[in-house]
Amino acid sequence: MQTIQQILTAQVRDAFAAAFPEADLSSLPLDVLPAANEAFGDYQCNAAMAAARALRKPPRAIAEAVASRLAAGGADDWLAKVEVAGPGFLNLTLSDAALARHLAGVQADPHAGLPQPGAGKRIVVDYSSPNVAKPMHIAHIRSTVIGDALKRIHRALGWDALGDNHLGDWGTQFGILIMGYRHFLDEKALAAAPVDELQRIYVLSHQKASDDPAWKDACRAELVKLQAGDPENRALWKKFIDLSLAEFDRVYKRLDVEFELVRGESYYNDALPGVVEKLQSLGLVRESEGALVAFLDDEKLPPCIVRKSDGGFNYATTDLATVFSRESEFHPDLVLYVTDERQQLHFRQFFALARKAGASVALRHVWFGLMRLPEGLLSTRNGTAIKLDLLLDESVRRARELVDASSPDMPEADRAAVAEAIGIGAVKYADLSQNPQSAVNFTWEKALSMDGNSAPYLQYACARIASVLDKYRERFPGADPLAAPLLPGETPQGRRLALRIARIPDAVLDAAAQMKPSLLADALYELAQSYSSFYQNVPFLKADPGVREARVRLCAIAARALRTGLHILGIRTPERI
Ligand code: ARG
Repeated sequence: MQTIQQILTAQVRDAFAAAFPEADLSSLPLDVLPAANEAFGDYQCNAAMAAARALRKPPRAIAEAVASRLAAGGADDWLAKVEVAGPGFLNLTLSDAALARHLAGVQADPHAGLPQPGAGKRIVVDYSSPNVAKPMHIAHIRSTVIGDALKRIHRALGWDALGDNHLGDWGTQFGILIMGYRHFLDEKALAAAPVDELQRIYVLSHQKASDDPAWKDACRAELVKLQAGDPENRALWKKFIDLSLAEFDRVYKRLDVEFELVRGESYYNDALPGVVEKLQSLGLVRESEGALVAFLDDEKLPPCIVRKSDGGFNYATTDLATVFSRESEFHPDLVLYVTDERQQLHFRQFFALARKAGASVALRHVWFGLMRLPEGLLSTRNGTAIKLDLLLDESVRRARELVDASSPDMPEADRAAVAEAIGIGAVKYADLSQNPQSAVNFTWEKALSMDGNSAPYLQYACARIASVLDKYRERFPGADPLAAPLLPGETPQGRRLALRIARIPDAVLDAAAQMKPSLLADALYELAQSYSSFYQNVPFLKADPGVREARVRLCAIAARALRTGLHILGIRTPERI
């Protein structure tokens, strides 16, 4: 079904076309947005200002001409009121009847009011993608959480969404690692904490390689053997991958993250020479000091090496092979790459080269900024790698304190499960609720806040709203409030709540269009806040019959919107807290 913003935008568009039949409106932004100030209306449209130049008329006159053609005030009209304000704002107020009609439609809709613009389309989301034999870096964790939310957001909008974990499982580090394994391995440590031990022997071997040329040569020789398919080195390499994946999988499981595909860089090895040949035959690369280089001056980008002078291939070459493989196997309409901001140049170069080489799928790099974690707890030797498990354990421990305080009567097993849901949710949501492109400071106070924009706040709100229906059913067995007439305009708090519910599908669309899960998080937080004010100021069970049912039904619709939205972000919603 359509969202309120889509419906109103279509009406404004029609009114513009009727008022200015000879004008070309196709390039004008005629979108209707939620009102910046609720005192003036529910929605607003600033198009008159944007159109003034093209229409050669003062914006206020344009707004008035459009307003007079917007249907308002009739029994079947969406709008109760249209006002022109200031230099030419259109302020739109929905009719209560339309709001009730729309929410009933949302309630009946199997997609909870979410339009399905992705139906028949496919998206590949390339996310997480850690490197084998290294602990997951904070950047990979952000990629995991944000990438998974983007996958779920698209899926909710009807896309067929494939998540692909493009593991860093190939490259020069394996020669170094094999030498480290042969000479420095501590078997016990490997059994206890495999990735830590792999990292440790890698660092030792890497250091030795920079001090000792013979060691460096030996590392290179091991790499060449691996590349040539030497069975022993292959087996070691496979072991490194299996050990790393087992550890990564434990993290994914805790985070409720699943991948449709796990294809590391090595999956594309055999395709690399063909990619380079293709670039050569298209005249896209030239030899330069023994290396093969793509010059991207026409795109104002620095050159990009696709084959090194020693014959080895590069990160960009693998990404080219990957995109061709994804195109021919999955025919996606869009591929997203979710990484930290430091890879922007790589993706600009690779996208430019991919287009020149004939890739036609839309490619987008979704990058995110730094996240600073609490001091002390998490920094390891080099200060950047972190142990996600520790962060999650600490969050669950703190969440458990909240649960113990709020629900001392809950059985032990339930309390543990709820604390896990809140603790993990808090860490994920602390990431998702921020604009991905800004630097994030993770603090426990914010992540576990009971009255701010946090997972626990939303999870508690969700459980509390759901309990209203249970209480109603206990008091009035046999009655069905879910079919009672909705009366959204009956209290200001209820009306605001109704508007916040109707806003969720638009927020999901915005989050997909701008690749910002935080836009959905913001809308969910506003929904939960407006619910709190409804709950605190308006009686449910003690209200008069009819009004009582209308209020309980509004709660049920709010609960579903909140639950659906949190699931789209990958946040669990325990039924009782
Ligand atoms: N493994 C890479 C890293 O850790 C990220 C890979 C991102 N995906 C891609 N197709 N390049 O930096």
